[in-house]
Amino acid sequence: MISVKNLWKSYEGNSVLRGLSLHIPANRITIILGQSGVGKSVLLRQIAGLEIPDEGKILIDNEPMRKGHSRKDVGMLFQSSALFDSMTVEENVAFALHSHRDSASDEGAIQKQVADALENVQLAGFQKKYPSELSGGQRRRVALARLIVYKPRILLFDEPTTGLDPITAQHIASLISSTQKSLHATVVLVTHDIVTALAIGDYFALHQDGIIPFSGDKLNFFSQKEPLVEAFIQSATLPSKELPAAPRLAQVCYTVGENRERIPKEILTS
Ligand SMILES: Nc1ncnc2c1ncn2[C@@H]1O[C@H](COP(=O)(O)OP(=O)(O)OP(=O)(O)O)[C@@H](O)[C@H]1O
Ligand SMILES: [Mg+2]
Repeated sequence: MISVKNLWKSYEGNSVLRGLSLHIPANRITIILGQSGVGKSVLLRQIAGLEIPDEGKILIDNEPMRKGHSRKDVGMLFQSSALFDSMTVEENVAFALHSHRDSASDEGAIQKQVADALENVQLAGFQKKYPSELSGGQRRRVALARLIVYKPRILLFDEPTTGLDPITAQHIASLISSTQKSLHATVVLVTHDIVTALAIGDYFALHQDGIIPFSGDKLNFFSQKEPLVEAFIQSATLPSKELPAAPRLAQVCYTVGENRERIPKEILTS
């Protein structure tokens, strides 16, 4: 479990996190929703240990985390895929292994791990390609392979499906879901993509005005008459007609929205 307690973070007088607290359950997928610029990426960077908050603390399994301390345990997929353009796919994925290894490992073992990770994201044989030769969805999958190759137990995803077509987005979402299960990982995922969120999320948190005013299990979260949550759902764009595997999504959403009109009808009937 990750406990975020009373986190404050400002940049040049711009107060972004203002006493934010959140309990993130272990071995589940927590979705953070919120408007653009509210500080979701900032929150993830604090949890990843990439920045130090001005005040407050983050406990991982009741242990305080420090900058650089838990980098082996925590992996983050950035809002841009952030691959190294001058490196091949293989070098990009292996980079994570080199930088997270305590001892020098033999090249054969690293190559095998890289190949396995690429197969996991359905990019077997892509080792020698460069990021510039890949599509946006493929780059996102390389970034995912780079993340899962060293098996962190906490995975942070910043907008992993943004900018992708619905089919590719759903593919990435199901890879995240299967990765979470195979690694028994604790996942925190920031997204504007309400369809992905509903399909794979277990626990939901709304980020607003520098705090998390409301969080809860999926059913709980969407069944409360919480105006902020309602406003967010109402404003979400739902590409209902174009969705692949619509029956599955409809089913997920139906469970969530049972007897509830406020889950937009488009999802239920897509
Ligand atoms: N390194 C930084 N230096 C100065 N300001 C920053 C820095 N990082 C973030 N901010 C500011 O903090 C605020 C929140 O930024 P953040 O990137 O977390 O938003 P977000 O919720 O992730 O938005 P989006 O949904 O558009 O990605 C913004 O006003 C941003 O300008
Ligand atoms: Mg962001």
